[in-house]
Amino acid sequence: MKIRVHNQETGPKISKYIYGQFSEHLGRGVYGGIYVGRNSDIPNVRGLRLDVIQALRKIHVPVLRWPGGLFADTYHWRDGIGPLDQRKKIVNTNWGGVTESNHFGTHEYFDFLNQIGAEAYISVNIGSGTVQEMRDWTEYMTMPADSPMANLRRKNGHDKPWRVKFMGIGNEPWGSGGNMRPEYYSDLFRQYQTFLPQYDKDHLIKKVACGPNEDDYNWTDKVMNIAGDYLDGLSLHYYTLPTGDWDHKKGASTGFPTSEWYSAMEHAKLMDRLITKHAQIMDKYDPQKRVSLIVDEWGEWHDVEPGTNPGFLYQQNSLRDVLSAAITLNIFHKHADRVRMAEIAQMINVLQSMLLTKDDQMVRTPTYWLFDMYQKHMDAQLVNFDTSLPHNVTGTASQKNGQLTISLGNYDLTQDQQLEFTFDTAPQKIVSTQIITGDKMDAHNTFDRPNTVTLKDYRGSQLENGLLKVTLPAKSVVSITLE
Ligand code: AHR
Repeated sequence: MKIRVHNQETGPKISKYIYGQFSEHLGRGVYGGIYVGRNSDIPNVRGLRLDVIQALRKIHVPVLRWPGGLFADTYHWRDGIGPLDQRKKIVNTNWGGVTESNHFGTHEYFDFLNQIGAEAYISVNIGSGTVQEMRDWTEYMTMPADSPMANLRRKNGHDKPWRVKFMGIGNEPWGSGGNMRPEYYSDLFRQYQTFLPQYDKDHLIKKVACGPNEDDYNWTDKVMNIAGDYLDGLSLHYYTLPTGDWDHKKGASTGFPTSEWYSAMEHAKLMDRLITKHAQIMDKYDPQKRVSLIVDEWGEWHDVEPGTNPGFLYQQNSLRDVLSAAITLNIFHKHADRVRMAEIAQMINVLQSMLLTKDDQMVRTPTYWLFDMYQKHMDAQLVNFDTSLPHNVTGTASQKNGQLTISLGNYDLTQDQQLEFTFDTAPQKIVSTQIITGDKMDAHNTFDRPNTVTLKDYRGSQLENGLLKVTLPAKSVVSITLE
């Protein structure tokens, strides 16, 4: 099959924020995953795991959503500031009923962001919090002048304000975040955003409203209609369940049947329809596309690993996660004119993670390697193909800094694919070709065998007289960079 790459036309920019992450006070996402405390034997910088920081710096995480999720609507920021031994202990009623020490709070979050080089995306508590609480927290974080909250921040050891790039007002208000109707939430959003203080006029905090759950198009319509003029972003939550069944069995992370490989791919592909339809509704109210669609929770959600706390959402991560994430990221690229941020759930030890930790050990998951591979698409201009790709193949192309990158995933479990590409402007050479694959569909990394699935150089591409030939092995993602 021959595919033409229209690399002379410039598409929209694929925002780097599409590669954002989410970390909630859930299971071992924060405690054990990010934060171990200064007195830990695990190497750390001010309590933050060094191995984790080093791994995340390499993939240039652009933004980190925190502190939830459901947890956000029970989080009171004052519990997480001041001397550690005086911080209030609470029970995390959302996730496992465990004690939350509040040792990871606002200062630790910004320290972590600073160490990994990411920007802040704060979720504000509207479930059990107040407008005043949001106002005070924002003043605490971002006020440069002499003010009560800024002075409290100084007393706690941080003189300069931090920068908050994005702020989400609530979390899933259509469900556990308040069981609200869209009309009520929209009015609440209008109220909260009115009192959100903006002290840095050159860097206004971008206001994100809670958007729909999956295919709730009525929600999008109502929020855009009632609050559309007041928001910068509207969120969407959609998880990929291999079985599609929330109530009984979502499906195992490894040792799953072939049918659950393919159904996971089909469920991942649904993201395209969801974005298309929500974007059409947004176009009605915002034809200039001022408001971003922000997919701030996505990823594969499986049954927890046997023997682990069901409230901790700890799951393994395999080659299947790589292929389904490639499908999803390629869909985000396709909709780059509207989708300008996304956060995979979640960063460490929870759902579809980048990293897994056990005591002092850390392993990079197959999904981590996909995020590493796809860095070449961050902030690159989208490039289109002239035709659809074969069934079971997902692909995307973009260019930046004079280089063109084509990334292709073949989720057929047995058939390789031979693809040929021609170009509007022929590249002169292949700069690199990389592959992520494995010998089994559930190939994954463990603490004993951490390098079963990684990013490797690959020799399956040739460029001759402007024709690029690619051999795409079964169950693999291949990325070719040309110039
Ligand atoms: O990511 C886990 C949970 O899924 C989040 O807390 C919630 O927002 C969603 O339902």
